Amino acid sequence: MAAAAAGTAISLSSALLLGCSAGTAADSAEYMVIPQPNEITYMAGSTVIPDKVAIAFPEEFASEAAMLGRYLSEDFNVRPVLRRDRSSGRILLKKDPALGSIPGQYRISADGKIEISSATAEGIFYGIQSLRQMITRDTVSAVLAVRNGEINDHPAFQWRAFMLDDARNFRGMESVKMFLDEMARLKMNVFHWHLTDDQGWRIEIPEYPLLTEVGSRRDSTHIGGWNSHEYDPNPQEGFYTQDQIREVLEYADARHITVMPEIEMPGHSSAAIAAYPWLGPIGKPFRTPCRFGYAADLFDVSRPEVVAFLCYILDEIMVLFPGPVIHIGGDEVSFNMWENAPTVRKYMAEHNIGSLSEFQLDFTDRISAYIASKGRRMMGWSDIGLNPDENAAGVTDTGDGLAEGSIIQFWKGDLSQITDVAERGYDVVNSYHMCTYLDYNYEWIPLKNAYDFSPIPDSLPENLHGKIIGFGCQLWTEWIMTDEKMCRQAFPRIAALAEAGWTDTANKDYGRFRDTKLPRLLEIWDAEGIVYHNPYTD
Ligand code: ACM
Repeated sequence: MAAAAAGTAISLSSALLLGCSAGTAADSAEYMVIPQPNEITYMAGSTVIPDKVAIAFPEEFASEAAMLGRYLSEDFNVRPVLRRDRSSGRILLKKDPALGSIPGQYRISADGKIEISSATAEGIFYGIQSLRQMITRDTVSAVLAVRNGEINDHPAFQWRAFMLDDARNFRGMESVKMFLDEMARLKMNVFHWHLTDDQGWRIEIPEYPLLTEVGSRRDSTHIGGWNSHEYDPNPQEGFYTQDQIREVLEYADARHITVMPEIEMPGHSSAAIAAYPWLGPIGKPFRTPCRFGYAADLFDVSRPEVVAFLCYILDEIMVLFPGPVIHIGGDEVSFNMWENAPTVRKYMAEHNIGSLSEFQLDFTDRISAYIASKGRRMMGWSDIGLNPDENAAGVTDTGDGLAEGSIIQFWKGDLSQITDVAERGYDVVNSYHMCTYLDYNYEWIPLKNAYDFSPIPDSLPENLHGKIIGFGCQLWTEWIMTDEKMCRQAFPRIAALAEAGWTDTANKDYGRFRDTKLPRLLEIWDAEGIVYHNPYTD
């Protein structure tokens, strides 16, 4: 018995030296990668990751190599040895210009050594995320190894976004970084940061200090749902300084995530107007709203000084955020406050505008032109490209006056509207609320519905499929007061949606996702202290 055990130990250690395992659990382990890679080939045996592992890489992948080293050390307690500009090591990051036809494309192979290849740093980063999930630890020998094989992979959609509403209930730096880490794991690449709304303004603008001194604070918080009259009596406050924003941008950049800020206009803007009442049509002071739902006020965009203020804010935002797209909200404009404003009526008469819905579109068209003039693209919720009164008598503006390159984020309404805006030439991000709103409860959006979501609706003609650049999933926080609830709403549906955005439809399989792969991800979240909704009790 003892001799046999010693013999096994000898052959195992010499095998480890060569990088091949002498029979570990990895030999037959399926790659537990979420989102599911588009092409997997398994081979015999497995490749060992030693306790001290050399990572060789060219200079241009130095940042990715450093991240890989960090992941290996944090996830698996191994010691990485970084070998810049070398080509030998148990793990090799390799430039391969042939793997660049789809942004994010990569290959990873394991066969005595592990090679991650791509034309781009982004592709290498995605290969690293796969590798993290391919490594298994043998429960008997404790050896870390990857089953031999090869993955050839690419994203189905270029826009894979998660939105955090930091305005309704402020979440803070720790939550933002946690989401960025989990997005990176799931190969999501756009952090849509909802920074302003009726109940909170969350970004420092030094020229207008009251935006945060007044607009980031409220006296209490509406709880219990839309029809409730209950309030949490504690004052609520919070905002990000510009230094903190820069810290988030750097953190996201290292994870190949673009941060897209959202500054709501012309509606959902009461917190800003509480700070500076002259921005609204009435000019009367009020306190930052504590109640959720449509709130008191909206910008009076008929007045040049209000539009100049918004352009100033956008300028500031465009200096801070380098990404190509700026989100202006544009949703759910309730016209009450405009209705009786003489300034608005005067503007409409002077510009021959017959309805308030056309007045709204006139504004979003102007702002889209402003953003385009700065070399960026404007994005907004579907309301910016659809006139709700399109069929009313005398209406001429159907919502097609946005600057070229503007992007529509579809969230609610008949799916045929996607065809409508795509036909008019706009790119579309599909965030259909009944599949992608993470704040909805699990009865409304069970895990399977999130998984089955396809950013391309069945009704969309094939020649327009290219107009759907991807999907967004959204965590609105009206009823989310705690980190625990925030996490339970997001996890694990965010993983199902990540797969909906990455994996080609033909390669999706809900049973495999839920029953084979998700359990491993849940173990990872357990280890990280991330709570989630239990998908096996539904
Ligand atoms: C939205 O949910 N109001 C875009």
